[in-house]
Amino acid sequence: MINEHPGLERAREEEASNLTWHDMRVTKELRRNRNGHSSFVVWLTGLSGAGKSTIASALETRLFDMGLMTYVLDGDNVRMGLNANLGFSEEDRQENIRRVAEVSRLFVDAGIVTISSFISPLDADRVKARERFGEGEFIEVFIDCPVEECMKRDPKGLYQKAIAGEIKNFTGINAPYERPQDPEITLRTDQYTVDECVDTLVAYLKDRGLIFAR
Ligand SMILES: Nc1ncnc2c1ncn2[C@@H]1O[C@H](COP(=O)(O)OP(=O)(O)OP(=O)(O)O)[C@@H](O)[C@H]1O
Ligand SMILES: [Mg+2]
Repeated sequence: MINEHPGLERAREEEASNLTWHDMRVTKELRRNRNGHSSFVVWLTGLSGAGKSTIASALETRLFDMGLMTYVLDGDNVRMGLNANLGFSEEDRQENIRRVAEVSRLFVDAGIVTISSFISPLDADRVKARERFGEGEFIEVFIDCPVEECMKRDPKGLYQKAIAGEIKNFTGINAPYERPQDPEITLRTDQYTVDECVDTLVAYLKDRGLIFAR
């Protein structure tokens, strides 16, 4: 439900919590009206080195240049701040994604086109993230690239370390990556250039009426 804040539902479930949701007068819709565009999250998931941060940055630049309010939440950047206390155990990864989904939701509520770039390897965590958004507000983009190509790219030298046994729980090597079941978009970054991938994303957003050429 788009109009009812998910916090309300949670508050109802936790009757004994003593929490009360306070509706603010400036709503998401008012912010969207003022900005002249909708807000939503483009959620990029995929292996390390698949190209999430590269595409996030290129997509943001394109949308920013069109005059939209944008922001990128990126895995490593968030782990250096908000999630600095989390590691890579299954539990911590789950908490990492839970928190970034919540932050993404705050940004969307603030009227901002939010690009969230996280490996987010587990389907259940991505499904939970999606559940925190209204219909059409969560656009899951599978940044699809064979692990062999990611290993060749190895932009951070992490695959080399993981193969040498220096990193535990490295997605694609010794931790699972569950391919998205039904993403809105799949981008094969071993077959298309960054610009072509961004063209596909922008065309999708225009088709869905989420953004307009200005
Ligand atoms: N079509 C493409 N799209 C994105 N990146 C590409 C593409 N072709 C080649 N690359 C290269 O692949 C690398 C992708 O690295 P990037 O840091 O974006 O990955 P990532 O998915 O953010 O990884 P991590 O999860 O470790 O942060 C970059 O060096 C980029 O230049
Ligand atoms: Mg990255």
